[in-house]
Amino acid sequence: MGKKLFDCEWIFLCHLLLVAVVAATNHGNAANDLVDIINKNRTAQKLPHLNNSPGLGCMALQYVELCRENCTSNNTVNCKPSEDDFTEVFAPNCGVELPTFSTITGHIVGCQSKYLEPLLAFSHVLVKDHKSLSLLRNKSHTEMGVGMIGVHKGSFFWCILFSSGKTNSTFVLEDHGIGIKQKKGCYSGSSIPCNGGQKLSAMISIIISIAFQLIYMLQQL
Ligand SMILES: *[C@@H]1O[C@H](CO)[C@@H](O)[C@H](O)[C@H]1NC(C)=O
Ligand SMILES: *[C@@H]1O[C@H](CO)[C@@H](O)[C@H](O)[C@H]1NC(C)=O
Ligand SMILES: *[C@@H]1O[C@H](CO)[C@@H](O)[C@H](O)[C@H]1NC(C)=O
Ligand SMILES: *[C@@H]1O[C@H](CO)[C@@H](O)[C@H](O)[C@H]1NC(C)=O
Ligand SMILES: *[C@@H]1O[C@H](CO)[C@@H](O)[C@H](O)[C@H]1NC(C)=O
Repeated sequence: MGKKLFDCEWIFLCHLLLVAVVAATNHGNAANDLVDIINKNRTAQKLPHLNNSPGLGCMALQYVELCRENCTSNNTVNCKPSEDDFTEVFAPNCGVELPTFSTITGHIVGCQSKYLEPLLAFSHVLVKDHKSLSLLRNKSHTEMGVGMIGVHKGSFFWCILFSSGKTNSTFVLEDHGIGIKQKKGCYSGSSIPCNGGQKLSAMISIIISIAFQLIYMLQQL
C-alpha cells in the first residue's frame, strides 16, 4: 500500500516538473527577440533604435500567412503581395486604423524548411546579403514589426516590415489589438506569448514522457 502511494507521487511529481519545463520553454515571443536583435545590430553601428510596432508586426504576420505556400527550394519567398493587399487585407485583418496607415519603407522576408532560433534566422535567413543588410541600416526607418509562422508539414516563414511613420501614432490597432484573434504564429509588439517552433518539440517531449511513464507503470504490474 505504502509503495503504491509512493509510485503515484513519483509519477505526479514527474508530470508536474515536465509541465513546468514546457511552460518555461514556451514563454516569451520569438518575434520580439528578433526585433531586439535588429535593434542591437543597428545601435552597434550608431543607428537609431527602431520602435517595435504591434500594427506592423501583425501585418508582417499577415504577409507570411499569405505567402505560406511559396517557399522555393533555395529558401526564397516567391510571393509578391500588392500594395492594395496591405491596405485592403492586412490592415483590416489586424484592425489597423486606416487613417494611421503610414509609409512602409521596406520589407525583408525569408523561409526555411525548419524553425531556427531568432539569432540564426537573422543571420542565416533574413540578413545574408548586401541588399538586406543595407535595408536594415537605412536611416529613414523609425519603426518596425516582425511576424513569423510555421506551416504544418511545410516551411517556416519570417517577415520584417519597416516604416518611416511617426512613432506610436502610426499603424494604431483598434482597442490596442485586443480584438486580434491570433491562432497561429507570432508577431512582435504583442503581449500574447507565442512559440516560434517549439510547439512540436514540446509535444514530442510530452509524448516521450507519457511513454516512459507507461513503461514504468507496466513494470510495476
Ligand atoms: C532562387 O529560386 C528562384 C526561383 O526558384 C530564382 O528565381 C532565384 O534566382 C533563385 N535565387 C538564388 C539566389 O539562387
Ligand atoms: C505563390 O506561387 C504561385 C505559383 O508560383 C503563384 O501563382 C501565386 O501567385 C503565389 N502567391 C502569391 C500570394 O504571390
Ligand atoms: C532608405 O529608404 C528610403 C525610403 O524607402 C529610400 O528612399 C532610400 O533610398 C534608402 N536609402 C538607402 C541608402 O538605401
Ligand atoms: C549585423 O548583422 C550583420 C548580418 O548578420 C553582420 O554581418 C554584422 O556583423 C552585424 N553587426 C553587428 C555590429 O553585430
Ligand atoms: C512609444 O511608446 C513606447 C511604449 O509605450 C515608449 O516606451 C516610447 O517612449 C514611445 N516613443 C515615443 C517617441 O513616444
